[in-house]
Amino acid sequence: MERKEFLKSLGAGAAFALTFPCVHGCSKDDVTGTIVEEPTGVDFTIDLTSAEANNLSTNGGFILQNLVVIAKNLQGEFVAASQVCSHESYDQVRFVNQDGGIFYCDVHGSRFDQDGIPLNQVDSNPAKAIKVYNTELDGTTLRIFE
Ligand code: FES
Repeated sequence: MERKEFLKSLGAGAAFALTFPCVHGCSKDDVTGTIVEEPTGVDFTIDLTSAEANNLSTNGGFILQNLVVIAKNLQGEFVAASQVCSHESYDQVRFVNQDGGIFYCDVHGSRFDQDGIPLNQVDSNPAKAIKVYNTELDGTTLRIFE
């Protein structure tokens, strides 16, 4: 069956939806992620020998756990920050290898240094810090806590 015949067999509505899937979206304002509350009472450990922690074996790598981004920065130190962005509370903060290693939210482009201090202003909103957490290494156990 030819593409044209296939679309015709689906009917006009379905054919339009398949042909123009971005008619109601695909703008810069489309976001992935979820609006969530910032975690409270953070205090947990990670076994660095576990498969889940594999990304922490490399400088610049990070993992997500309990709405916290845990990263091994470019100098090999462990840092942790809230995964919840201070701009509009999307859970999209990640660690990226830019400017010596920063926390970054791709929803609207907020950037934060490793102390959580904002490096830019988004949509003329006053920039606010993201929460950062303490890290403590004991052998192969990494503790993340407030
Ligand atoms: S929610 Fe993170 S930049 Fe807007």
